[in-house]
Amino acid sequence: MSVWAVLVAAGRGERLGEERPKAFVALGGLPLLAESLRRLDESEWVDGVVVVAPPGWEEPAILLAEELGASKVAACVPGGETRTDSVRAGVAEVPEDAAVIIVHDAARPVLPEDVVGRVIGALGEGFDGAVPALPVADTVKRVVGGVVAETLPRDELVAVQTPQGFVAPVLRAALAAGEGSDCASLVEQNGGRVRIVAGDERLLKVTTRADLERVAGWL
Ligand code: CTP
Ligand code: MG
Repeated sequence: MSVWAVLVAAGRGERLGEERPKAFVALGGLPLLAESLRRLDESEWVDGVVVVAPPGWEEPAILLAEELGASKVAACVPGGETRTDSVRAGVAEVPEDAAVIIVHDAARPVLPEDVVGRVIGALGEGFDGAVPALPVADTVKRVVGGVVAETLPRDELVAVQTPQGFVAPVLRAALAAGEGSDCASLVEQNGGRVRIVAGDERLLKVTTRADLERVAGWL
């Protein structure tokens, strides 16, 4: 069974507000992209990696992979306008015979190996997809026009992270069918069964300066 990883790093990082795209902002002396790229390349579960870079940043991404000795990187392609477009661009480079595709946000640099193991393990149990998640600490309400429409049952809610793993043909079909804020939602909309596995606090997505400082402390 071959497992391929698509590392999406093509976002602009507008909320971080640096001059360069978020994937190339410094973290521990290297571009932020380096940490997740190295971890995927070193993962015993992963056979090949496709990097989706910000348009115009493919060359620096390839040079970074070479500098890290990331020998599993098979392709580096420019991303699209939305995250889903970027995932599509990356998945298009994954060999047809790949059994599993995991999609990871470069904005989550600290990727623990055991999370990858849990995601792949759930796919081995027959699920179409598997996503790491954490329980939600706050009460969550659905709001319409500033007025509470509903208070959601907290024990049924989770906050999802990446890497999200999928049976490869299931992900390809879902990507052809629609748009969504994460890959799992596309697979769900297409009738796929997605398993939740335990996430990890360290998979924090770097959005702001403060996030960057927190993550730097975990390297
Ligand atoms: N991403 C991508 N292509 C896009 C948008 C996002 O590959 N068109 C990637 C980002 O590089 C990131 C992940 O999807 O690794 C999650 O996106 P987010 O955290 O929102 O990053 P940005 O879109 O870069 O940040 P911002 O929304 O603040 O501009
Ligand atoms: Mg974004």
